[in-house]
Amino acid sequence: MIKLHDLYFKPFISEQEVDAIVQNMVDDIAKDMQDDIPVFVGILNGSFMFVSDFVKKYPKPCEVTFIKLASYEGLKSTEDIHRLIGLTQDLSGRKVVILEDIIDSGKTLEEVHRIFLNEGVDELKIATLFYKPEAYKKDYKLHYVGKEIPDKFIVGYGLDYDGLGRDIPAIYQLKTTQHMTNLVLFGPPGAGKGTQANFLKETYNLIHISTGDVFRFNIKNETALGMLAKSYMDKGELVPDQVTIDMLNAEVEKNADANGFIFDGFPRTNAQAEALDKLMNSKDSQINAMIALEVDDEVLVERLLERGKTSGRKDDADESIIRNRITEYYNKTAILKDYYTAQDKYFGVDGVGSISEITERLNAVIDKL
Ligand code: IMP
Ligand code: MG
Repeated sequence: MIKLHDLYFKPFISEQEVDAIVQNMVDDIAKDMQDDIPVFVGILNGSFMFVSDFVKKYPKPCEVTFIKLASYEGLKSTEDIHRLIGLTQDLSGRKVVILEDIIDSGKTLEEVHRIFLNEGVDELKIATLFYKPEAYKKDYKLHYVGKEIPDKFIVGYGLDYDGLGRDIPAIYQLKTTQHMTNLVLFGPPGAGKGTQANFLKETYNLIHISTGDVFRFNIKNETALGMLAKSYMDKGELVPDQVTIDMLNAEVEKNADANGFIFDGFPRTNAQAEALDKLMNSKDSQINAMIALEVDDEVLVERLLERGKTSGRKDDADESIIRNRITEYYNKTAILKDYYTAQDKYFGVDGVGSISEITERLNAVIDKL
């Protein structure tokens, strides 16, 4: 993801795909031009990168020139189009191909047609790398379209948002939801995860989603998903990941305007981590970090035994049960540590110290995200 001025953009069309699209356009146009030497007219500024790559790939002699119009301010096409640099060359009798980076409302194209009205060209064809059919309001024929895209603002490969982004070799698309900070929080039993989650929630205004709580809530309130989950549990079967994901989705949707989420108790497997990535992606968002509290086993055992004296929890009273729980935690989370490390998203935080010291360490990690 990238940030330009105040907005976030997500990867949309890779450099390789753009290259393949340009190549296809070159092939089509070269075939249609036969033995004529065309004049390619790029529409500045947006088309400079497209035109450059296009003519480099063009297999036969051609001429290149540019005109410069201005119609776009920020994210919206304006009515008002200024001709800044017009044609500087006699094109009468020539085959002309307009090379546009993108056709949106079609207003620029209308101006282009006006410019060529009295030029006496033999043939005027329109080639556009990208085309937003939902936004197009004119009926000029588009002879060559590289790729149709949804009516969402894009940047990169010549296209800008308020001056920025033209230099990026791939295409990025505007994220329609605001930026969220989403954390997956891990910690062995006794690491102080619950305490720290509460502080994080407060400090960053995040929603804490504990999978256990979400399950209990859905089952207690007999939601459709709760009943479905219960039907598996009653048979002694594992609840399928999709059911859990659907519950988490409902939680995320309930809090659509949140600054972000802390996921606690999920994911536990690679498949779940992938499903969670997909879920966040469908929300135009992502998991930003897996944060794991790291505490030495002996310290954990000591803490839990201490807690067992007052909590009344049976599993906090027996040292061998405690050690098993810790071992199990590491067995289960090792895979996830690898998963998030591969994405550069794993952050281990020293969980030994005073509560406020640990909070500070966590904050330092999150502030840098
Ligand atoms: P139209 O006149 O509305 O068809 O818009 C054409 C021009 O608007 C393009 O040449 C671009 O300069 C600009 N434009 C349209 N859509 C986008 C976009 O998604 N990102 C960046 N610029 C755009
Ligand atoms: Mg343009």
